[in-house]
Amino acid sequence: MKAVIIGVHADQGLGGQLAKRFAAEGLEVYVAGRTLSALNQIVKDIEHSGGRSVAVQTDATKEKDVQNLFEKIGDGLDLAIFNVGNNTPGRIQNMSADYFEQSWRICCFSGFLFAREAIKTFLPKNKGTILFTGASASLRGRPGFGAFNSAKGGLRQLAQAMAKEYGALGIHIGHIVVDGVINGQMVRDKRPDIIEKLGENSLVNIKNIVDGYVYMYRQSKEGWSFELDIRNSIENW
Ligand SMILES: NC(=O)c1ccc[n+]([C@@H]2O[C@H](COP(=O)([O-])OP(=O)(O)OC[C@H]3O[C@@H](n4cnc5c(N)ncnc54)[C@H](OP(=O)(O)O)[C@@H]3O)[C@@H](O)[C@H]2O)c1
Repeated sequence: MKAVIIGVHADQGLGGQLAKRFAAEGLEVYVAGRTLSALNQIVKDIEHSGGRSVAVQTDATKEKDVQNLFEKIGDGLDLAIFNVGNNTPGRIQNMSADYFEQSWRICCFSGFLFAREAIKTFLPKNKGTILFTGASASLRGRPGFGAFNSAKGGLRQLAQAMAKEYGALGIHIGHIVVDGVINGQMVRDKRPDIIEKLGENSLVNIKNIVDGYVYMYRQSKEGWSFELDIRNSIENW
């Protein structure tokens, strides 16, 4: 059985940890993202632990790249995870049209491209799971995050529409809301000030998030969840 995860980079990123966990669960994991060296490192680690993995350099916003990814995977796909998403802060009055559009292309449009190809693979056998990574931004608007909020909100609505469109056809579609800052590479490398401000103990544990994906994937048809939200106990929500 195969899985594909798009939006993989750092070992201590959600994508990297999802790849390693599903490989440990016995799936052959195709890892996709824009940086081949980062993907190759994840593949190497998985193979070193006895798992199977393949790196496919893919820009999720490019239709041809996404189609090529699914062509490379071929038969046997059972799980597709859309994990791409870059936070795009900024106040509306200063925001260029291009910035807003790029945010939407990365966080929402590419989710459509990816899920469409996954659906085409799953439909003939009426089986398969698609999971989308959401954020606090998926559920509510916040000042200074209009571009990211609208893109992540759009992705969530796409996921919900697809869950209803394809559920009866045997395809499980879910959305995981990560409601807080992930204790991972991104915040450590790019925003150490956030850790300083909020404190280490306010971050969301990456293993708990990954457990949520495994739970959703393992559900039987008689009891499917569409959505799971995961936050730190001290999060103010
Ligand atoms: N980090 C957080 O605190 C946090 C909180 C809540 C929700 N989330 C969500 O969790 C997910 C993963 O976040 P993460 O911070 O842990 O990062 P991650 O899983 O380590 O990496 C996601 C990777 O997606 C890749 N990506 C970006 N644009 C892409 C594109 N156009 N095509 C293909 N790949 C692309 C990037 O790698 P390349 O640059 O190498 O392509 C990026 O590093 C995102 O959906 C994010 O919105 C994160």
